[in-house]
Amino acid sequence: MSSTSPTDLKAMKAWIYNSTSGGLQNNIKSVDDAALPFKQPFPDDGILVKVHYSALNPADYKFPELGLVGRAVMPTPASPGLDYSGVIAQLGSAVEGFKVGDKVFGRITPNRFGTLSEYVLARVSGCAVLPEGVSLQDASCIGTAGQTAYQCIVPNVQKGDKIFINGGSGGTGTFGIQIAKAIGCYVTTSCSGKNADFCRNLGADGVIDYTTENVSEVLKSKGQVYKLVVDNVGSTPTDLHKAADHFLLPDGKFVQIGGQFTLADINTILSRRFLPSFLGGGKRKWEYLVTEDKHEQLEQIGKWMQEGKVKAAIDEVFQYEDVPKAFEKLRQGRVKGKIVVKGSV
Ligand SMILES: NC(=O)c1ccc[n+]([C@@H]2O[C@H](COP(=O)([O-])OP(=O)(O)OC[C@H]3O[C@@H](n4cnc5c(N)ncnc54)[C@H](OP(=O)(O)O)[C@@H]3O)[C@@H](O)[C@H]2O)c1
Repeated sequence: MSSTSPTDLKAMKAWIYNSTSGGLQNNIKSVDDAALPFKQPFPDDGILVKVHYSALNPADYKFPELGLVGRAVMPTPASPGLDYSGVIAQLGSAVEGFKVGDKVFGRITPNRFGTLSEYVLARVSGCAVLPEGVSLQDASCIGTAGQTAYQCIVPNVQKGDKIFINGGSGGTGTFGIQIAKAIGCYVTTSCSGKNADFCRNLGADGVIDYTTENVSEVLKSKGQVYKLVVDNVGSTPTDLHKAADHFLLPDGKFVQIGGQFTLADINTILSRRFLPSFLGGGKRKWEYLVTEDKHEQLEQIGKWMQEGKVKAAIDEVFQYEDVPKAFEKLRQGRVKGKIVVKGSV
């Protein structure tokens, strides 16, 4: 561990990329002289965290690989990564509720100083103190997947409601199943047969194997009983929103987060959003949710973790040196829960 005080820092370790041609994992490299994520004077609202763990999300490679659009959001050289856990090294003068040395976890808003770095600059909205008894490794998983699942589910249901989660075995799905159970809902989810027991063990009451069953038809056969659909997949089945006319309650809601930056998936999103029902569109309320950082939600999920109601479902922990391998695995789209990367400390 470096003994340098943050105020003396001139540079830091980080995984950076300048190009994503041929895939982020083939371009990203580890350096010891990356730019720091802040300029002096240290920002009043800044929380400088020494990163102990970072959890990966599909957005970590999807946005950088968007070409010009990606570079407009994140000019290169840039480090990927949104989710972190670690120890506070320096605090801005306006930050309340934290102190140097606190163990914390959370998420940063996308910018070119990502969490696959030695230090990350967090804000209060995306930072929470680690609850006693929760490990930094587990808490690193919460930032994006936990908050996304929370924002899809908690505002839209009440205890006893039925939820369908399309895609229960990935990062957002594993948090979604557990959060829905923590607030007393009945959960049906889709996953491949090999992950059915995994989803049941997380609390799913019903599982539909999307590799052998027609997900939309199975749901339609249940009648209008669901209050909420959370679509973590987006692309499959494409008729899910239309089919929801038959299995979502009339005041139910369809929340989508998943999808690829492909013409087919953009077309699915546009038709779900704009196609009127008389032209074949679905009737149920549809929303594309974009995750926001909410300090109170991070705290709540951390509390559920402390109480054992929500667990971090970790597929694999990679060493800091193995970031390219971690991305190779992530982009195959078959991750069970989360991929975590150890920090450089
Ligand atoms: N809008 C936002 O703000 C936001 C926030 C977070 C995530 N997202 C997006 O949401 C999506 C999910 O994110 P994530 O972190 O959960 O991804 P992830 O962890 O990479 O998801 C992988 C999981 O998806 C499952 N899966 C793949 N195809 C499926 C299908 N047709 N039906 C059911 N399950 C399927 C896989 O299971 P099998 O191996 O069994 O196929 C695997 O367990 C991504 O597109 C991500 O970019 C958006």
